[in-house]
Amino acid sequence: ILTISDFDVKGKTVFLRVDMNCPIDPSTMEIIETSRIRESTDSLKALEGAKVVIGSHQGRVGNKDYTGMEKHAKVLEQILGRKIKYIEDVIGAEAQREIKNMKDGDIILLDNLRLCAEENYEFSADDAAKTIMVQRLSKLFDICVLDSFPSSHRSHPSIVGFAHVLPSCAGKLVEREVRKLDEIMTVAKGPHVVVLGGSKVVDRLEAIKELIQNGRADQVLLTGVIANVFLRAQGRIKFPLGIKREEEVVSKAHALIGEYPDVFSVPVDIAIERNGKRVEMDVRELAKGEQIFDLGPKSVEYYLKSIQSAGTVFMSGPAGFFENENFKFGTESLLKGVANSFATTIVSGGHLTAALKRYGLAEKINHISTAGGALVLYLTGVKLPMIQALEEAAARYRSTK
Ligand code: 3PG
Repeated sequence: ILTISDFDVKGKTVFLRVDMNCPIDPSTMEIIETSRIRESTDSLKALEGAKVVIGSHQGRVGNKDYTGMEKHAKVLEQILGRKIKYIEDVIGAEAQREIKNMKDGDIILLDNLRLCAEENYEFSADDAAKTIMVQRLSKLFDICVLDSFPSSHRSHPSIVGFAHVLPSCAGKLVEREVRKLDEIMTVAKGPHVVVLGGSKVVDRLEAIKELIQNGRADQVLLTGVIANVFLRAQGRIKFPLGIKREEEVVSKAHALIGEYPDVFSVPVDIAIERNGKRVEMDVRELAKGEQIFDLGPKSVEYYLKSIQSAGTVFMSGPAGFFENENFKFGTESLLKGVANSFATTIVSGGHLTAALKRYGLAEKINHISTAGGALVLYLTGVKLPMIQALEEAAARYRSTK
């Protein structure tokens, strides 16, 4: 694939797709953790002298973290120490006018790309190029730079559409992630232990099977919402938990346990909140309406044994509500275990990246990626839509040279 150094960007109008999808506090709608915004600055520095139009999404339509990009612009401005013009528009007349009026060195941040309905659907590259978003904006751009590694598993118009019609290359983050991950995966030794949490259960279930089948998961230690789904599938929790598409995901988990009976581990004890306090219990004692906030000590001890005997550990998604001091135990203990193990270690996702920094463990991890679901899929070996789009763009570009 091509990189920014393959192009002379001075004076060019560049569309830069980044992933500034950050954790948001739903009560204040403030950005809690900014590492994904920080990650986008390397490409911006490399694009010095160009007119850069940044596009990103934030949250999913209907979810609590779905919001505009105004605050992201302010954070980016502080990190870079440069003016970022935030446009409250994506593909309309205002956005088009602002892009046409840009001068060399200007940076614009468009509003949440998912405000445009098309950006919420998956397309083939050909169809993505025919969307209104790509049709309207691509004629204003000279080059497309794809740097949203955390969303490289989405075939949305901004990810595969522009790259289908414009000279396109990888940004600095994508370049670094791909190089580092490929390096690690060629030397990675077994047993492969995957510590899997997070809330995007449907995505996770799809990836787990691929990971197992591709020899990237000999042991899967479950935490967070996905653990609860498996606990229901095993009948250890007997009532619905109020998770999206619950019956469908529980039956998928059930099928996975049947197919791979020795791979999955679930928590045996957990922690909940009662009157503002942490209360630990056997998982079978959980009552209807009570929410699991963390792993209990027996589960942690058991998981740590697996981690200690691993050749490679991949941890994605926090093990509990670690932002609250009462419930950081599981996440902090597992991260310490991963950091101090002799295994090759990869930790992924915005929440864990923040946790590693908070506990001073970041230096001890072989690779930290702000990507979550995309990274899980990358490790399965499947070709991600963004990488595919970049490879096709590179082949097209070279054939014209
Ligand atoms: C992520 O956080 O994993 C990426 O930003 C992709 O978000 P999505 O799962 O809502 O597409």
